[in-house]
Order: sequence, then C-alpha cells, then structure tokens
Amino acid sequence: MAFKPLVFSGVQPTGNLHLGNYLGAIKRFVEMQKTHDCIYCVVDLHAVTVWQDPAELKTQIREVTAAFLAAGIDPAAHIVFNQSQVAEHAELAWVFNCVARMGWLNRMTQFKEKAGKDRENASVGLFAYPTLMAADILVYRATHVPVGEDQKQHLELARDIAGKFNTDFAASIAANGHDPEDGFFPQPEPLTQGPAPRVMSLRDGTKKMSKSDPSDYSRIALADDADTIAQKIRKARTDPDALPSELEGLKGRAEAENLVTIFAALADRTKEDVLREYGGAQFSTFKPALADLAVATLSPVTGRMRDLMADPAHIDSVLKDGGARASAIARPVMDAVKDIVGFLR
Ligand code: AMP
Ligand code: TRP
Repeated sequence: MAFKPLVFSGVQPTGNLHLGNYLGAIKRFVEMQKTHDCIYCVVDLHAVTVWQDPAELKTQIREVTAAFLAAGIDPAAHIVFNQSQVAEHAELAWVFNCVARMGWLNRMTQFKEKAGKDRENASVGLFAYPTLMAADILVYRATHVPVGEDQKQHLELARDIAGKFNTDFAASIAANGHDPEDGFFPQPEPLTQGPAPRVMSLRDGTKKMSKSDPSDYSRIALADDADTIAQKIRKARTDPDALPSELEGLKGRAEAENLVTIFAALADRTKEDVLREYGGAQFSTFKPALADLAVATLSPVTGRMRDLMADPAHIDSVLKDGGARASAIARPVMDAVKDIVGFLR
C-alpha cells in the first residue's frame, strides 16, 4: 500500500458528551493507539455550523479534550488538538467545496435531519459540513477513520471527493512528481465495526442516543454522577418480557437489544455471552447489573475528566502542542495541493 496507515477522527464540542460517543467513538480511539499513529481532533469548526454560545464553546472544547485524555488517549505518543488551530483544514475545505458537487451534498441525510423543515434558514456551513470533514481527514492523507455508523455516508463522500480530485488533477499530480497510480489522496476507510456503532436512546429504541435530544433521560452523559447513571438505567424504557438466551430473541425488541449491546460493549464481552448469563432474567434483575457495570466502568473516566477540567491551562497547553504538531503534517500537504491546483505560492 502506498499510503502510510494513519488514523484520524473527530468529535464535535457541542456539549452533552454521552455513552454513544464513548462506546461508538472514544473507546475505539483508545484501542487504535496500540496499532496505529493516531490524530484526534476536537472539531470546533464543525460545531459552529449551528449556533454555539462563545463562552460555553470554550468549555465544551476543553471537555471533549478532557474526555479523550481521561479515556486513555496519549497526547504525547499521538496528536490531540482542536481544529480551528490548524488553518489548513479550512483551506483544503475550500478546494473541496469546488471539487464536490451540489448533487452529492444534497443527498446527505444528516443535513436533512439537522436542518429540519426550515432548510432556508440553515447555515451554509451546515450544508458544506461534509466537505470540511473530508478535508479534516485528507489534509493528513489519513487512511482509517473510526466513527459511529451515523458518519458512514460522510465517509463515502470523502472517498468520492478524494477520487474526483485524483481524477480531475491526474495530469498535474503526475507533473508535480506524485505517483500517478496512487493519486494524491488515499481513499479513507471508515471503521464502524466496533461493539456499539449505534447506541440508541434510553427512551426510544428506534432513535440514536444524541447530544441534542431534549430529554436528559434519553442519554447517559459522561458528566453524570453514579446516582444519575443508575437512575437513568432504572428508568430506561423496556418491554415486559424476560431476556432471551439467544441473539435471535432480541429481534423486534429494540430497547432490550440496546441495553444488551451497551452491557456487552461496557464489559468487553459478546452479546451472545451476555445472553448466556442473563437469558430468562427479568429487567428487574438485568437493569441493576447494568447500572453497576456502567458506574464501575464510567466512574474512573468521568472522575479523571473532572480532575482534568479543574486545570484548564493544562488542557490548553496539550491542545496547543498538538495543534503545532498537526500543522507540521498538514502544511506540506496543503502546499502540494496548491501546486497541483495551480496556485502560486
Ligand atoms: P458527534 O457527537 O456527532 O461529534 O459524534 C462523535 C462520534 O461519536 C462520531 O464518531 C459519532 O459517529 C459517534 N456517535 C455519536 N452518537 C453515537 C451513538 N448514539 N452511537 C454510537 N456512536 C455515536
Ligand atoms: N462529523 C463527525 C460527527 O458529527 C465529526 C467529524 C468531523 C469527524 N470531522 C471528522 C469524524 C473527521 C471523523 C473524521 O460525529
């Protein structure tokens, strides 16, 4: 393979970091460090595609950073930074705005969901969001992107953009000394096959757990204390039946399946294994076991997060150092893009 394996992923600092973010993304970021060089980004430029209170945004950026560090991401061995400190993201995004087609972006389901009925009033940034996301990844020529399932369509778009850039500029890519066979950008691969790529709301098993759900009881926040976590699990919606002993028996039981998935992901066990132990048990037995497990697993992380948040200067220095190291990788890539596109520099 011509492109060096490199992992990139991002989390928006939009508040209410939750169990879905942890199991679907952050926990996997931590695992990837063992096998890959990794760059993890707090994507503040993405956050402002919808209104963010400026004072709160600063806190939220530090909070996502604290969650990364508390979960076990090593900012010295890898790179942790916030997007707005590395101007190359926005620079490459502009070039990609001119490569991507309106028709491609019109198909993005996340825009449709987030813009809702009042599409005329959505920001231009919210519409162009996926081209910035492609730039985040490709400005490092990253090859692997651990994300939750909701981001798969955006990754496909990033691959399309990389492909069209490589084709449109093929002659210039070769003329500038890059291997014409490979093209200039890799095709980044989404890694969604974690144990919990789609954690669902605790109030409605058909909706994903999300930062923006108006009900606090729909999600377990990484800021929740032990009592709150236990109470939310106790109140989680379920059906009246006992748990099945086989996976097959979870079909059509979205809430039950979600709680079993969460249990398995938190315990690093398979769902089959969890059902072998709890098959036949009522939720009155399973929920307290899940609550204990969630508290035991999350408390060390949330505790470290609180300690880190008590020292914002330390967090800021981690981000600044990471930003400088990220820039050092992104700058030469952006310079090469300028040469390929035909800009003078
Ligand atoms: P966001 O909060 O949208 O910035 O998402 C950060 C990361 O968490 C992305 O990789 C998402 O795909 C992932 N994620 C968000 N919500 C969920 C969920 N309910 N289940 C699993 N992963 C999720
Ligand atoms: N769009 C992602 C989300 O909402 C966040 C994100 C921005 C991202 N840029 C990225 C994820 C690049 C992976 C790679 O979750």
